[in-house]
Amino acid sequence: MVSRMRYFDNAATTQVLPEVAEAAYPYFCDNYGNPSSLHDLGFDAADAIRTARASVARGLNCYPSEITFTSGGTESDNIALLGTVGKRGRNRIVTTAIEHSAILETCAEARRRGFEATIVPVDSEGFVDVPALDSVMGDDVSVLSVMSANNVIGTEQDLREMSRIAHEHGALFHTDAVQGFTKMDIDVKRDGIDMLSLSGHKIHAPKGIGALFVKTGTEISPIVFGGGQERGLRSSTENVPGIVGLGKATEIAMASMAEDVPRMVRMRDRIIDSVLEIEGSALNGPRDRRLCNNTHFRFEGVKGTDLVLKLNRLGFATSTASACSAGDTEPSHVLSAIGLNAEQALSSLRVTISQLNTDEDIDALLGALPGAIAECRSQ
Ligand SMILES: Cc1ncc(COP(=O)(O)O)c(C=O)c1O
Repeated sequence: MVSRMRYFDNAATTQVLPEVAEAAYPYFCDNYGNPSSLHDLGFDAADAIRTARASVARGLNCYPSEITFTSGGTESDNIALLGTVGKRGRNRIVTTAIEHSAILETCAEARRRGFEATIVPVDSEGFVDVPALDSVMGDDVSVLSVMSANNVIGTEQDLREMSRIAHEHGALFHTDAVQGFTKMDIDVKRDGIDMLSLSGHKIHAPKGIGALFVKTGTEISPIVFGGGQERGLRSSTENVPGIVGLGKATEIAMASMAEDVPRMVRMRDRIIDSVLEIEGSALNGPRDRRLCNNTHFRFEGVKGTDLVLKLNRLGFATSTASACSAGDTEPSHVLSAIGLNAEQALSSLRVTISQLNTDEDIDALLGALPGAIAECRSQ
C-alpha cells in the first residue's frame, strides 16, 4: 500500500536514492572501522569521510576544512548560534519570525542562558522586513541568522543583502539552508556567508546526518564535548555511512541541478496554476523567489488536517505546514507571521515535490484535489 503512495511531502523528508544507499552500505557491514583507528579499516573510513567532505565543500564553494559533519540540521543550527553567541563581547542573536524551531528554540535556550535574541518580522510573503532588520542591528549582535528558504511557504531570502547587513554591524551571518541546499544557487564565498546549516534527509541522503559550514577564522566553540572529532567542534565517533551518503547525495544533486531545478519549477508552477482555479483557494508565500519544490495553499471552509488525511486515503502523501507541527491544532508560526488568521492558517495544504516526481504524479494529484476539497467542505 505504502509503496504505491504518490509522494508530495519532500520538505518533510525525501526518499534515499538507491545510489546513495549503495554507496553507504559497505560502511555498515564491510568497511566498518572507526575513522580514528590506526589500521586499514580505520584508514578506509577516514578516506571515505575525506571524499564526502570534499563533495559537500564543492556544493557550497568552500574548503573541505570548513565543513563539520553533525547529526542534522537541528544540531548544525544549535552549534552555529550557541557556539558563537557571547564571543567578542557580543551577546545578542538576531533572527526572523519564520525560522524553523531549530533556530527559534535555540534562541529561547540562549535567553535562558542570559543572552538576548531579537526576532524580526517578515512581510505578507515571508520576506524579511529590511527596515525592521536595520533598526534592530547593532554592535552587540553576535550573529544574524536568516533561513535561505522557508520550509512551509518556500520564500527564498536575499542572502547577499542579509550578509551585507550583518557585516555592516560586525556580526556573523548564518543561514539555515536545510531546504535551500542543492535547490538554490548558494555560494558561501560570493554570498558572504559565515556559517551555513544543511541536512542529509532533505536531499535524498539518510536521516540523522547534516553539516555545518564555518568560514575559516570564525570564533566558535563546541556545544558537546568528548573525543575531539571534527576538529573539536563536534565530538562523537563519526556517522560514516551517513557521511558517505550525504557526500554522494550532494554529488548527484549538484551534477543534475541545472536540469532538475527548472523541471521542478515547471511542475511547481503547473500545480499552482491549476490549484488556484479551485474556488476559494489562495497561495501562501510568493509567486517569484520561491523554492523550486514548494507549493502551499489555503482553502476556504476546509480543515487542512482533514484534507491531508483524505488525500492519504487516496494515495497521496502531503502535509499541512511542517512535519514538526503536523499533529498540532495550533496554527503554524510561519503562517501567523505572514498575517494569516487562525482559521486561514488551519485551512492549508503543503505540496512539496522532488526531482523524482513525474508529470503523471501531478496529473493524478490535480485530478483528485477538487473532489477531496469539495468533500471536506461538505462534511
Ligand atoms: C528549515 C529547516 N531547518 C532545520 C530543520 C531540521 O533538520 P533535521 O531534521 O536534519 O534536524 C528542518 C527540517 O525540517 C528544516 O526544514
